[in-house]
Amino acid sequence: MNFPPRYTPSTRMRRMRRDAFSRHLMQENTLTVKDLILPVFILEGSNVEQDVSSMPGVKRQSLDKLFDTCEECVQLGIPLIDLFPADLSNKSLYAEEAYNPDGLVPTAIREIRARFPDLGVMTDVALDPYTTHGQDGIIDADGYVMNDITIEVLIKQSLCHADAGAHIISPSDMMDGRIGAIREALEDAGHELTRIISYSAKYASCFYGPFREAVGSAGNLGKADKKTYQMDPANSNEALHEVALDIQEGADMVMIKPGMPYLDVIRRVKDEFAVPTYAYQVSGEYAMLMAAIQNGWLDRDQSILESLMAFKRAGADGVLTYFAIEAAKLIRQQA
Ligand code: PBG
Repeated sequence: MNFPPRYTPSTRMRRMRRDAFSRHLMQENTLTVKDLILPVFILEGSNVEQDVSSMPGVKRQSLDKLFDTCEECVQLGIPLIDLFPADLSNKSLYAEEAYNPDGLVPTAIREIRARFPDLGVMTDVALDPYTTHGQDGIIDADGYVMNDITIEVLIKQSLCHADAGAHIISPSDMMDGRIGAIREALEDAGHELTRIISYSAKYASCFYGPFREAVGSAGNLGKADKKTYQMDPANSNEALHEVALDIQEGADMVMIKPGMPYLDVIRRVKDEFAVPTYAYQVSGEYAMLMAAIQNGWLDRDQSILESLMAFKRAGADGVLTYFAIEAAKLIRQQA
């Protein structure tokens, strides 16, 4: 180079980035295995394992197969799994199967708790896997989801899961007032230690598409949407209002969903309320990343870890992610 530099920066941000040790010293956020929650899809029957075509690498498993996944979580130190029933045979208009004590989910809870005493077990509370129409609640003649009647069923479902031993229940239905109603019912039934993680700010999002294929509700839902109860992606003040209500009604933890497109909402919620706050990196986000990874367009390991670190930076205390096992392995390799 035959020209001398003429400008001297007054601040050199690159000094700290020069070496790995100083980069480590100034690292503001960390992603650990303890931040990860694994959602799993469970099937009736035994010895069944099925791929989900829009979620490469994700499997729907009968309970006996799921135990291997639980074992892997325990080995890796993943603290919590979240159970979603898939392809239930007993769907109905009033979702009676949602509170059948011998149903798939309560059975899974009991068996996992008996075999894996150190693994946290969380369940989804909503009616969409159980209704013939694929909506999260009980509908009237026009197909409108009726709020207060739905809550009665959600209470039964919550008690059924708590009775079976769920550590955490997670209402994902977005009915008004359900957190308070469920909390009160749990208290009355002596389940005062059953934790509630509320899907407080759950948006009416296209990113749930692959999930609906995975649980087998897509066909039932058809062209219908969930806009009369899930939130408008245009809003974020409304998310704060939702979270405020859920905290007041007794939620122990709040969740924002989807994740990556809603990092701004996570940050606002964390700054405003400073309560345990979680993000759900949903099925469509997984599908997007996997599609690019499989095409060789994105580096697999780095895109998984960077996408998850973004949640920590945004203020999340933990992340529900279909990458939990892969991410845990990567984190362990780095350590
Ligand atoms: C159902 C429920 C959904 C998800 C979690 N619980 C789908 C929906 O609301 O239609 C989505 C999860 C994902 O996309 O990974 N109440």
